Amino acid sequence: MSARLEEGAESLRREPVAVYELLESIVVEGRELGRESRHELVFEGDPNLVLLGDEPLLRSAFSNLVFNAIRHTPTRTRIEITWVRDREQGVLEVRDNGAGIPARHLPRLTERFYRVDPGRARDAGGTGLGLAIVRQILDLHEASLSIHSEEGRGSRFACRFPAQRLRDFSDATAV
Ligand SMILES: Nc1ncnc2c1ncn2[C@@H]1O[C@H](COP(=O)(O)OP(=O)(O)OP(=O)(O)O)[C@@H](O)[C@H]1O
Ligand SMILES: [Mg+2]
Repeated sequence: MSARLEEGAESLRREPVAVYELLESIVVEGRELGRESRHELVFEGDPNLVLLGDEPLLRSAFSNLVFNAIRHTPTRTRIEITWVRDREQGVLEVRDNGAGIPARHLPRLTERFYRVDPGRARDAGGTGLGLAIVRQILDLHEASLSIHSEEGRGSRFACRFPAQRLRDFSDATAV
């Protein structure tokens, strides 16, 4: 996976990825991971909204966001995942009502090995590489990552994909 990332844009696949189904399968894994801690995962999305991209890389990015929302939040946190078209863009959001991230950490959050609370994140099994990889994968897809978080209220990670990477499968002639 990291070798593929090093190769960058050249080896990037550009195939129709059924993001709805991809997220469904990540949510199934996430529910397993968060079963004991009673995390609640809710997913809503547009099943016809397809993204041209690299499925293995996208899986790795999306699952890091979903698993982060489980690993780095308290028990019984509710996690909402959405995949919709917003104006021209494809928007994937992972929102949680966990403890949130203090604002001073947000600018550095996607740096390699950066963790908010190294002691705790290690207990949670993290190396701090996940969000750096997410950002790299999104860059390769011309997508952006925005992070909003409020202490005591939770966090929201939004990935925005440009219109030229989207296809609508309800229109059979679209691809
Ligand atoms: N949903 C979230 N709520 C609270 N803190 C978060 C959340 N997502 C990420 N973080 C914080 O951001 C840090 C960086 O996340 P990142 O995914 O890069 O690393 P990691 O999850 O610790 O390790 P890795 O993903 O490499 O296994 C985490 O250590 C955690 O402190
Ligand atoms: Mg992570």
